[in-house]
Amino acid sequence: MRVLVTGAAGYIGSHASKRLLHDGHHVLALDDLSRGHQTPMDLLKQSHPDRFTFAHGRLGDRVKVKSLVDDLKIDTVMHFGALAYVGESVDRPLRYYQNNVAGAIAMLEALDCAESPIQRFIFSSSCATYGDPPDDLIPVPETCPQSPTSPYGRTKLHLEQILMDYADHRRAKGSPIALTMLRYFNVAGADSSGILGEDHDPETHLIPIAIQCALGQRDHISIFGTDYPTPDGTNIRDYVHVDDLVDAHLRAMERIEPGRTEAFNIGIGKGASVREVIEAVKRVSGSDFNVQEAPRRPGDAIALFADPSKIQSELGWSAQHTDLDEIVRSAYDWMKAHPKGYDDKN
Ligand code: UFG
Repeated sequence: MRVLVTGAAGYIGSHASKRLLHDGHHVLALDDLSRGHQTPMDLLKQSHPDRFTFAHGRLGDRVKVKSLVDDLKIDTVMHFGALAYVGESVDRPLRYYQNNVAGAIAMLEALDCAESPIQRFIFSSSCATYGDPPDDLIPVPETCPQSPTSPYGRTKLHLEQILMDYADHRRAKGSPIALTMLRYFNVAGADSSGILGEDHDPETHLIPIAIQCALGQRDHISIFGTDYPTPDGTNIRDYVHVDDLVDAHLRAMERIEPGRTEAFNIGIGKGASVREVIEAVKRVSGSDFNVQEAPRRPGDAIALFADPSKIQSELGWSAQHTDLDEIVRSAYDWMKAHPKGYDDKN
Protein backbone atom coordinates (compact mmCIF):
# COMPACT_ATOMS: atom_id res chain seq x y z
CA MET A 1 0.00 0.00 0.00
CA ARG A 2 0.99 3.64 -0.29
CA VAL A 3 0.82 5.12 3.16
CA LEU A 4 0.93 8.71 4.41
CA VAL A 5 2.46 8.56 7.88
CA THR A 6 1.91 11.82 9.76
CA GLY A 7 4.26 12.50 12.65
CA ALA A 8 6.65 10.05 11.03
CA ALA A 9 9.72 11.57 12.65
CA GLY A 10 8.32 10.98 16.13
CA TYR A 11 8.72 7.96 18.34
CA ILE A 12 5.80 5.83 17.19
CA GLY A 13 5.54 7.22 13.65
CA SER A 14 9.17 6.33 12.93
CA HIS A 15 8.72 2.79 14.21
CA ALA A 16 5.57 2.39 12.10
CA SER A 17 7.34 3.75 9.01
CA LYS A 18 10.18 1.28 9.44
CA ARG A 19 7.79 -1.65 9.74
CA LEU A 20 5.76 -0.51 6.70
CA LEU A 21 8.94 -0.32 4.64
CA HIS A 22 10.09 -3.69 5.93
CA ASP A 23 6.76 -5.19 4.77
CA GLY A 24 7.14 -3.75 1.27
CA HIS A 25 4.86 -0.71 1.47
CA HIS A 26 5.56 2.83 0.25
CA VAL A 27 5.80 5.54 2.90
CA LEU A 28 5.22 9.27 2.59
CA ALA A 29 6.51 10.61 5.89
CA LEU A 30 5.10 14.00 6.87
CA ASP A 31 6.49 15.83 9.89
CA ASP A 32 7.12 19.45 10.82
CA LEU A 33 10.06 18.34 13.01
CA SER A 34 8.74 20.45 15.88
CA ARG A 35 9.04 17.41 18.14
CA GLY A 36 10.34 14.71 15.80
CA HIS A 37 13.88 14.07 14.54
CA GLN A 38 15.52 14.29 11.16
CA THR A 39 17.89 11.40 11.94
CA PRO A 40 15.34 8.55 11.75
CA MET A 41 14.06 10.05 8.49
CA ASP A 42 17.60 9.96 7.07
CA LEU A 43 18.11 6.39 8.27
CA LEU A 44 14.87 5.21 6.65
CA LYS A 45 15.71 7.02 3.41
CA GLN A 46 19.11 5.35 3.30
CA SER A 47 17.66 1.90 3.87
CA HIS A 48 14.71 2.28 1.43
CA PRO A 49 15.52 5.08 -1.05
CA ASP A 50 12.87 3.98 -3.57
CA ARG A 51 9.92 3.57 -1.26
CA PHE A 52 10.45 6.28 1.34
CA THR A 53 9.74 9.99 0.87
CA PHE A 54 10.16 12.53 3.64
CA ALA A 55 8.18 15.76 3.45
CA HIS A 56 8.90 18.52 5.94
CA GLY A 57 5.58 20.19 6.60
CA ARG A 58 2.58 20.78 8.77
CA LEU A 59 -0.63 18.76 8.92
CA GLY A 60 -2.55 21.99 8.45
CA ASP A 61 -0.86 22.86 5.14
CA ARG A 62 -3.75 21.83 2.91
CA VAL A 63 -2.05 22.69 -0.37
CA LYS A 64 1.08 20.73 0.44
CA VAL A 65 -0.79 17.71 1.80
CA LYS A 66 -3.09 17.51 -1.24
CA SER A 67 -0.26 17.82 -3.69
CA LEU A 68 1.86 15.17 -1.93
CA VAL A 69 -1.06 12.78 -1.63
CA ASP A 70 -1.90 13.19 -5.33
CA ASP A 71 1.70 12.93 -6.51
CA LEU A 72 2.40 9.81 -4.50
CA LYS A 73 -1.05 8.25 -5.04
CA ILE A 74 -1.60 7.70 -1.34
CA ASP A 75 -4.32 5.18 -0.47
CA THR A 76 -3.87 4.85 3.31
CA VAL A 77 -3.19 7.24 6.19
CA MET A 78 -1.63 6.42 9.54
CA HIS A 79 -2.13 9.54 11.60
CA PHE A 80 0.34 9.90 14.46
CA GLY A 81 1.09 13.62 14.19
CA ALA A 82 -0.02 15.18 17.47
CA LEU A 83 1.19 16.89 20.59
CA ALA A 84 1.12 14.23 23.26
CA TYR A 85 1.93 15.46 26.74
CA VAL A 86 -0.91 15.28 29.23
CA GLY A 87 0.68 17.86 31.57
CA GLU A 88 1.53 20.32 28.80
CA SER A 89 -2.01 20.07 27.47
CA VAL A 90 -3.32 21.33 30.80
CA ASP A 91 -0.97 24.35 30.58
CA ARG A 92 -1.54 25.07 26.89
CA PRO A 93 -4.96 23.71 25.92
CA LEU A 94 -5.46 25.96 22.89
CA ARG A 95 -2.18 24.85 21.37
CA TYR A 96 -3.37 21.23 21.74
CA TYR A 97 -6.76 21.91 20.15
CA GLN A 98 -5.11 23.89 17.36
CA ASN A 99 -2.61 21.19 16.51
CA ASN A 100 -4.43 17.96 17.31
CA VAL A 101 -7.91 18.94 16.19
CA ALA A 102 -7.74 21.96 13.84
CA GLY A 103 -4.56 20.68 12.15
CA ALA A 104 -6.11 17.26 11.66
CA ILE A 105 -9.31 18.74 10.20
CA ALA A 106 -7.24 20.71 7.68
CA MET A 107 -5.45 17.50 6.71
CA LEU A 108 -8.79 15.70 6.31
CA GLU A 109 -10.01 18.51 4.06
CA ALA A 110 -6.92 18.10 1.92
CA LEU A 111 -7.39 14.34 1.77
CA ASP A 112 -11.06 14.75 0.94
CA CYS A 113 -10.30 16.69 -2.21
CA ALA A 114 -7.47 14.41 -3.33
CA GLU A 115 -7.82 13.03 -6.87
CA SER A 116 -8.29 9.54 -5.52
CA PRO A 117 -9.91 9.44 -2.06
CA ILE A 118 -8.00 7.49 0.58
CA GLN A 119 -9.36 4.04 1.40
CA ARG A 120 -8.01 3.46 4.91
CA PHE A 121 -7.38 5.73 7.89
CA ILE A 122 -5.74 4.55 11.09
CA PHE A 123 -5.82 7.01 13.95
CA SER A 124 -3.53 6.99 16.91
CA SER A 125 -6.03 7.57 19.67
CA SER A 126 -5.44 7.10 23.36
CA CYS A 127 -6.62 5.48 26.54
CA ALA A 128 -6.61 9.06 27.78
CA THR A 129 -10.04 9.33 26.08
CA TYR A 130 -11.45 7.14 28.87
CA GLY A 131 -10.42 9.50 31.67
CA ASP A 132 -10.76 7.83 35.06
CA PRO A 133 -12.86 4.73 34.42
CA PRO A 134 -14.96 3.36 37.27
CA ASP A 135 -13.43 0.40 39.17
CA ASP A 136 -15.83 -2.09 37.59
CA LEU A 137 -14.55 -1.07 34.11
CA ILE A 138 -10.88 -1.83 34.81
CA PRO A 139 -9.43 -3.49 32.78
CA VAL A 140 -10.98 -1.02 30.38
CA PRO A 141 -13.07 -2.32 27.46
CA GLU A 142 -13.69 -0.22 24.34
CA THR A 143 -17.30 0.19 25.49
CA CYS A 144 -16.17 2.14 28.56
CA PRO A 145 -17.71 5.64 28.50
CA GLN A 146 -15.16 8.16 27.22
CA SER A 147 -14.72 11.04 29.63
CA PRO A 148 -11.18 12.43 29.35
CA THR A 149 -9.55 14.20 32.29
CA SER A 150 -7.15 16.35 30.24
CA PRO A 151 -7.27 18.60 27.18
CA TYR A 152 -4.94 16.09 25.49
CA GLY A 153 -7.46 13.30 26.02
CA ARG A 154 -10.25 15.54 24.79
CA THR A 155 -8.38 16.35 21.58
CA LYS A 156 -8.12 12.61 20.88
CA LEU A 157 -11.80 12.06 21.64
CA HIS A 158 -12.87 14.98 19.46
CA LEU A 159 -10.87 13.65 16.56
CA GLU A 160 -12.37 10.17 16.99
CA GLN A 161 -15.82 11.74 16.68
CA ILE A 162 -14.83 13.89 13.71
CA LEU A 163 -13.38 10.87 11.94
CA MET A 164 -16.53 8.83 12.55
CA ASP A 165 -18.62 11.62 11.02
CA TYR A 166 -16.22 11.73 8.09
CA ALA A 167 -16.49 7.96 7.64
CA ASP A 168 -20.30 8.23 7.66
CA HIS A 169 -20.09 10.94 5.02
CA ARG A 170 -17.86 8.76 2.84
CA ARG A 171 -20.24 5.82 3.22
CA ALA A 172 -23.19 8.02 2.25
CA LYS A 173 -21.27 9.25 -0.79
CA GLY A 174 -20.74 5.65 -1.93
CA SER A 175 -16.99 5.91 -1.35
CA PRO A 176 -16.52 4.04 1.94
CA ILE A 177 -13.37 4.29 3.99
CA ALA A 178 -11.95 1.82 6.52
CA LEU A 179 -11.54 3.73 9.78
CA THR A 180 -9.64 2.27 12.72
CA MET A 181 -9.05 4.12 15.96
CA LEU A 182 -6.37 2.53 18.07
CA ARG A 183 -6.53 3.59 21.69
CA TYR A 184 -2.99 3.23 22.92
CA PHE A 185 -2.18 2.64 26.50
CA ASN A 186 1.41 3.59 27.54
CA VAL A 187 3.84 2.89 24.75
CA ALA A 188 7.42 2.00 25.65
CA GLY A 189 10.55 0.28 24.39
CA ALA A 190 12.55 0.55 21.21
CA ASP A 191 12.83 -1.17 17.87
CA SER A 192 14.53 -4.57 18.19
CA SER A 193 17.22 -3.78 15.59
CA GLY A 194 18.49 -0.92 17.75
CA ILE A 195 18.11 1.68 14.99
CA LEU A 196 15.12 3.58 16.36
CA GLY A 197 14.20 4.58 19.88
CA GLU A 198 12.35 7.05 22.06
CA ASP A 199 13.82 10.56 22.20
CA HIS A 200 11.54 13.32 23.43
CA ASP A 201 12.47 16.89 24.20
CA PRO A 202 11.30 17.64 26.79
CA GLU A 203 11.18 14.12 28.18
CA THR A 204 8.24 13.68 30.54
CA HIS A 205 7.53 9.94 30.33
CA LEU A 206 8.15 7.70 33.27
CA ILE A 207 10.32 4.96 31.75
CA PRO A 208 12.77 7.23 29.87
CA ILE A 209 13.10 9.55 32.87
CA ALA A 210 13.85 6.63 35.19
CA ILE A 211 16.40 5.33 32.68
CA GLN A 212 18.04 8.76 32.46
CA CYS A 213 18.42 8.56 36.26
CA ALA A 214 19.94 5.09 35.95
CA LEU A 215 22.38 6.41 33.33
CA GLY A 216 23.39 9.28 35.61
CA GLN A 217 21.81 11.95 33.38
CA ARG A 218 19.41 13.16 36.09
CA ASP A 219 19.92 13.24 39.80
CA HIS A 220 16.45 12.03 40.77
CA ILE A 221 12.98 11.04 39.64
CA SER A 222 9.82 12.41 41.24
CA ILE A 223 6.82 10.17 41.78
CA PHE A 224 3.82 12.32 40.99
CA GLY A 225 1.37 11.34 43.69
CA THR A 226 1.75 8.62 46.31
CA ASP A 227 -1.73 8.94 47.82
CA TYR A 228 -3.79 7.44 45.00
CA PRO A 229 -6.30 4.72 45.88
CA THR A 230 -4.07 1.97 44.44
CA PRO A 231 -2.18 -0.80 46.29
CA ASP A 232 1.08 1.20 46.60
CA GLY A 233 -0.47 4.68 46.30
CA THR A 234 0.93 5.42 42.82
CA ASN A 235 -0.71 5.50 39.39
CA ILE A 236 -1.16 2.31 37.43
CA ARG A 237 -0.59 2.11 33.68
CA ASP A 238 -0.42 -0.58 30.98
CA TYR A 239 2.98 -0.46 29.24
CA VAL A 240 2.90 -1.88 25.70
CA HIS A 241 5.99 -2.37 23.54
CA VAL A 242 6.20 -0.09 20.50
CA ASP A 243 6.82 -3.04 18.14
CA ASP A 244 3.59 -4.68 19.33
CA LEU A 245 1.75 -1.39 18.93
CA VAL A 246 3.01 -1.03 15.38
CA ASP A 247 1.96 -4.59 14.59
CA ALA A 248 -1.61 -3.64 15.55
CA HIS A 249 -1.51 -0.86 12.93
CA LEU A 250 -0.42 -3.25 10.22
CA ARG A 251 -3.18 -5.68 11.12
CA ALA A 252 -5.77 -2.89 11.07
CA MET A 253 -4.48 -1.69 7.71
CA GLU A 254 -4.65 -5.16 6.19
CA ARG A 255 -7.86 -6.46 7.73
CA ILE A 256 -10.38 -3.66 8.29
CA GLU A 257 -12.43 -3.32 5.11
CA PRO A 258 -13.78 -0.08 3.63
CA GLY A 259 -17.14 0.81 5.19
CA ARG A 260 -16.08 -0.45 8.62
CA THR A 261 -15.34 1.81 11.61
CA GLU A 262 -13.67 0.21 14.62
CA ALA A 263 -11.97 1.24 17.85
CA PHE A 264 -9.51 -1.09 19.56
CA ASN A 265 -7.54 -0.88 22.77
CA ILE A 266 -3.83 -1.57 22.47
CA GLY A 267 -2.36 -2.67 25.75
CA ILE A 268 -1.03 -5.85 27.28
CA GLY A 269 -3.92 -6.11 29.73
CA LYS A 270 -1.80 -5.82 32.87
CA GLY A 271 -1.11 -2.75 34.97
CA ALA A 272 2.15 -1.66 36.59
CA SER A 273 2.41 1.06 39.22
CA VAL A 274 4.88 3.94 39.05
CA ARG A 275 6.86 2.37 41.88
CA GLU A 276 6.92 -1.00 40.08
CA VAL A 277 8.25 0.65 36.93
CA ILE A 278 11.00 2.41 38.86
CA GLU A 279 11.97 -0.88 40.52
CA ALA A 280 12.07 -2.55 37.08
CA VAL A 281 14.43 0.15 35.79
CA LYS A 282 16.67 -0.33 38.82
CA ARG A 283 16.73 -4.11 38.27
CA VAL A 284 17.39 -3.93 34.54
CA SER A 285 20.07 -1.24 34.79
CA GLY A 286 21.66 -2.54 37.96
CA SER A 287 21.78 1.11 39.17
CA ASP A 288 20.19 2.63 42.20
CA PHE A 289 19.02 6.23 41.98
CA ASN A 290 17.26 8.85 44.01
CA VAL A 291 13.44 8.69 44.05
CA GLN A 292 11.46 11.55 45.54
CA GLU A 293 7.77 11.79 46.36
CA ALA A 294 6.00 14.76 44.78
CA PRO A 295 2.42 16.05 44.48
CA ARG A 296 0.00 14.63 41.94
CA ARG A 297 0.41 15.82 38.33
CA PRO A 298 -2.73 17.55 37.00
CA GLY A 299 -4.64 15.52 34.44
CA ASP A 300 -3.32 12.09 35.48
CA ALA A 301 -5.82 9.25 35.67
CA ILE A 302 -5.59 6.96 38.71
CA ALA A 303 -5.40 3.55 37.05
CA LEU A 304 -5.62 2.61 33.39
CA PHE A 305 -5.02 -0.78 31.90
CA ALA A 306 -6.59 -2.35 28.89
CA ASP A 307 -8.98 -5.13 28.19
CA PRO A 308 -7.41 -6.03 24.81
CA SER A 309 -9.77 -8.94 24.06
CA LYS A 310 -11.52 -7.19 21.15
CA ILE A 311 -8.38 -6.78 19.06
CA GLN A 312 -7.25 -10.25 20.05
CA SER A 313 -10.42 -11.83 18.73
CA GLU A 314 -11.03 -9.57 15.71
CA LEU A 315 -7.50 -8.96 14.42
CA GLY A 316 -5.62 -11.85 16.03
CA TRP A 317 -3.32 -9.36 17.79
CA SER A 318 -1.76 -9.95 21.14
CA ALA A 319 1.27 -8.40 22.76
CA GLN A 320 4.42 -10.43 22.29
CA HIS A 321 6.27 -8.44 24.94
CA THR A 322 4.39 -8.84 28.20
CA ASP A 323 7.18 -8.80 30.75
CA LEU A 324 7.81 -5.34 32.22
CA ASP A 325 11.54 -5.97 32.64
CA GLU A 326 11.83 -6.99 28.99
CA ILE A 327 10.04 -3.84 27.82
CA VAL A 328 12.20 -1.67 30.08
CA ARG A 329 15.35 -3.47 28.87
CA SER A 330 14.51 -2.67 25.27
CA ALA A 331 14.23 1.05 26.13
CA TYR A 332 17.32 0.90 28.33
CA ASP A 333 19.50 -0.72 25.65
CA TRP A 334 18.66 2.01 23.12
CA MET A 335 19.13 4.86 25.55
CA LYS A 336 22.42 3.44 26.78
CA ALA A 337 23.65 3.18 23.20
CA HIS A 338 22.34 6.71 22.42
CA PRO A 339 22.96 8.70 25.59
CA LYS A 340 22.07 11.96 23.86
CA GLY A 341 19.23 10.46 21.86
CA TYR A 342 19.35 10.95 18.08
CA ASP A 343 21.47 14.07 18.41
CA ASP A 344 24.63 12.07 18.94
CA LYS A 345 24.23 10.87 15.34
CA ASN A 346 24.06 14.34 13.80
N1 UFG B 1 5.26 9.84 36.33
C1 UFG B 1 5.95 10.11 37.49
N2 UFG B 1 7.12 10.79 37.39
C2 UFG B 1 7.64 11.20 36.21
C3 UFG B 1 6.93 10.92 35.02
C4 UFG B 1 5.73 10.24 35.13
O1 UFG B 1 5.51 9.77 38.59
O2 UFG B 1 8.70 11.83 36.20
C5 UFG B 1 4.01 9.09 36.42
C6 UFG B 1 2.81 9.86 35.89
O3 UFG B 1 2.27 10.68 36.90
C7 UFG B 1 1.91 8.72 35.46
C8 UFG B 1 2.87 7.61 35.04
O4 UFG B 1 4.12 7.97 35.60
O5 UFG B 1 1.19 8.26 36.56
C9 UFG B 1 3.04 7.52 33.54
O6 UFG B 1 3.32 8.83 33.07
P1 UFG B 1 3.81 9.08 31.57
O7 UFG B 1 4.04 10.56 31.47
O8 UFG B 1 4.91 8.17 31.24
O9 UFG B 1 2.60 8.65 30.71
P2 UFG B 1 1.09 9.15 30.78
O10 UFG B 1 0.33 8.04 31.41
O11 UFG B 1 0.89 10.48 31.37
O12 UFG B 1 0.82 9.43 29.26
C10 UFG B 1 0.85 8.41 28.36
C11 UFG B 1 1.08 8.92 26.96
C12 UFG B 1 -0.11 9.67 26.49
C13 UFG B 1 -1.33 8.86 26.73
C14 UFG B 1 -1.42 8.60 28.19
C15 UFG B 1 -2.67 7.92 28.61
O13 UFG B 1 2.19 9.75 26.92
O14 UFG B 1 0.03 9.93 25.14
O15 UFG B 1 -0.34 7.77 28.49
O16 UFG B 1 -2.67 7.80 30.01
F1 UFG B 1 -2.43 9.46 26.34
